[in-house]
Amino acid sequence: MIIIKIQDYSEMSRKAAQIIAAQVKAKPDSVLGLATGSTPVGTYQELIRYYEEDGLSFHKVTTVNLDEYYGLAPSHEQSYHRFMQETLFDHIDILPENTNIPDGLASDPYSYGKEYDKLIVSLGGIDLQLLGIGSNGHIAFNEPGRFFSAQTRLVDLNQHTIEDNARFFGSKDEVPHQAITMGMKSILGAKRILILASGAGKAKAVKDMVEGQIAPMVPASILQLHSDVTLIADQPALSLLS
Ligand code: PGA
Repeated sequence: MIIIKIQDYSEMSRKAAQIIAAQVKAKPDSVLGLATGSTPVGTYQELIRYYEEDGLSFHKVTTVNLDEYYGLAPSHEQSYHRFMQETLFDHIDILPENTNIPDGLASDPYSYGKEYDKLIVSLGGIDLQLLGIGSNGHIAFNEPGRFFSAQTRLVDLNQHTIEDNARFFGSKDEVPHQAITMGMKSILGAKRILILASGAGKAKAVKDMVEGQIAPMVPASILQLHSDVTLIADQPALSLLS
């Protein structure tokens, strides 16, 4: 794992966007794996700047998102569909038909998850996967547990995640308890992985991911098995590394 230490959230966002922009310049029809949450917002703002000021085009890019709350319609204020539209897609020249986000209303999530993984394979796999890390060590909504799960599937969110994400909702009670998440096989199948971490709240998860045992109680630790992972993190997030 390559670790790039940066000063703060702004520098993390600029660096991450630089790497993603270079990927798109080198391969205009890249398949980008995208993430939601607070972490990538600044990166998306920087990518919009590349589009507006530097002529970077996403016209041929395809995107595949990591997850969606189960039970939320795409139009719901807190859905990740809405997040991606408002935070990135509405501001660049990506074609709507080339964006893919798990369907939070899928009536048969098991079959749906299989189809989502097949779609990723049919696209030739993900060229560059952007990830955040949960303060409990999750990646996408692969929560700590007894197993690593390969497939895209319906999962129960753990209490920690519900509490972390309550800040986006009116209250904790409004946070959905389930989500459809990309599984480890599609994530690890990405050719390159870029993971971002900012702030002391991520320090324990980052330490366990980088230096801990590869164990399903720390889902991000499985990234140790991937040959091309870059972590961009600030000092508070790196503060527990030995
Ligand atoms: P955050 O979430 O970016 O909102 O901190 C990260 C994650 O849960 O993966």
